[in-house]
Amino acid sequence: MRLLITAGPTREHIDPVRFLSNCSTGKMGFAIAEAAIAAGHEVELIAGPVSIKPPAKANYTPVVSACDMLAAVMKYLPIVDAVIMTAAVADWRPAEQAQDKLKKHTMEPVIKLVPNPDILSEIKKVKTNQLVIGFAAETRNALEYAKDKLERKGLDMIVANDVSLPGAGFAVDTNIVSFVTQKNIEHLPLMSKQEIGCEIIRRLEEMSR
Ligand code: PMT
Repeated sequence: MRLLITAGPTREHIDPVRFLSNCSTGKMGFAIAEAAIAAGHEVELIAGPVSIKPPAKANYTPVVSACDMLAAVMKYLPIVDAVIMTAAVADWRPAEQAQDKLKKHTMEPVIKLVPNPDILSEIKKVKTNQLVIGFAAETRNALEYAKDKLERKGLDMIVANDVSLPGAGFAVDTNIVSFVTQKNIEHLPLMSKQEIGCEIIRRLEEMSR
């Protein structure tokens, strides 16, 4: 299969040196990409700004903002069999981006935000037969919110990720997740992100049969 995997955060610039973002390092998405390559799949890897190296055999597209990520995803969507959206995409961006660094004494202490496009919802509108797996990073009611996102975003599976648990979520080498589909919920124990990557690829292969 050819897979499109997104990873890392997005950066929504306020001016050339300041931005809104989050704590994603790309570790989870890159681990899935490595597992996919090891299993013999081709990988289009799209990632926001991260400081780790992408797997050598992935076709890598670095992006900055959610709008950049949407454009890259739409470019590759027609030629892939499945999408795995691990990226922590910013839901909002500043309404205006200053061309030059804002000066403290002239800056308004309030930043007006506008909503970013929801990439998974945009995929739902135009996809043909691609399988789509999303993630849900939550700090409470992870399963409930994940089920809601599974429905709303038209996903085949969602990986519920309670990022409040020790050893889970952003910036660590391990994670604790549950696989949620229309028919089933499967809880996984604390595992390395590499092991979880292998489990996700295994589920994707089963779904594609
Ligand atoms: O990168 P690491 O440091 O290893 O951290 C891994 C992780 C915590 C980022 C990862 O495991 C994870 O949980 N990723 C999902 C983060 C997230 O943004 O979740 P969400 O619940 O806000 O979004 C739900 C889904 O919609 C996600 O698949 C997301 O990619 C997608 N989304 C979100 C916003 C948006 N505008 N468009 C989207 O498509």
